[in-house]
Amino acid sequence: MRYTLKPIFCRPWTLNGFSLKLIESHYENNYGGALRRLNVIAEQLESLDYAKTPGHVVNGLKRDELVALNSTLLHELYFASLGGDGQPTKAMSEALARDFGSVNRWRDEVRAMAGALAGGSGWVVLAWLPRDGRLINQYASEHNQALVSGVPILALDMYEHAYHIDFGANARAYIDAFMRNIDWAAVQERYEDAIRTAPPRPLVQKEFGDVPGVDLEEVKGLLDAGKSLQLVDARPRHFVSRTQDIVEGAVWRDPERVQEWIGELSKSEPVYVYCAYGFHIGCKTTIALREAGFDARYLKGGHSGLRALGSTVKLNA
Ligand SMILES: [Fe+2]
Repeated sequence: MRYTLKPIFCRPWTLNGFSLKLIESHYENNYGGALRRLNVIAEQLESLDYAKTPGHVVNGLKRDELVALNSTLLHELYFASLGGDGQPTKAMSEALARDFGSVNRWRDEVRAMAGALAGGSGWVVLAWLPRDGRLINQYASEHNQALVSGVPILALDMYEHAYHIDFGANARAYIDAFMRNIDWAAVQERYEDAIRTAPPRPLVQKEFGDVPGVDLEEVKGLLDAGKSLQLVDARPRHFVSRTQDIVEGAVWRDPERVQEWIGELSKSEPVYVYCAYGFHIGCKTTIALREAGFDARYLKGGHSGLRALGSTVKLNA
């Protein structure tokens, strides 16, 4: 395929504190250079006979493709980030305050990150993370470090070519000039597009859709706070005899013999039930307890999930 050139979005003559010479050099040599390299690499890749090409050649070309493609995309975003008056719109102020505490806190973080990259190279990228429905400032020391699934909406170029012509080694002055020229209205448009990106699909267990589940963080939080819970480890016997560990605060009960231990539980407090990974056994045991009148919930993620969160385990005596 052929990658096409995008025009420079920022109307260079309107920028405050940047010379035309710097912006033109950056766009023509660095953005244009990346795009030209990318098309050469794409052509080479298209002509490869993969069955006969050594692995190191494939590795090298695909690595170079990623570097050139990300450099192209980041530079397009960089120029599209400039051309405004640096004043965040109301919607972006609210979004930054929600995810960073305040606009000033966001600015401080960007300044610190960019300052730390100065003298080397890299990018500071404001990206939307669909998984958690929030904005994050992403660090990149090279073009090819990208946040997986992140949707970038603002980019600050910290390669020396982005500022040396006008600012010399004074990266701080460049960072301030960038901040003064952010086009927040354009950032907001990209933000509105980004937040429509669906998060990764959650785990669905259709057959247990009606069984109330609880997030592991909530239960771990209660345990860490010293709360005494009715926490039932209902992993199958063969699991428990194999691993022998149990989460602190839980009791193991055989899911095959619910009727033998159900009388130990109280109906006035919730009963938390988990199995190895949070699938069938935990859900079925929860259903059995609910049918007997208990306020039972299964733990989404089970024993392995609790361990992954760093829960304390002990030997199952
Ligand atoms: Fe650049």
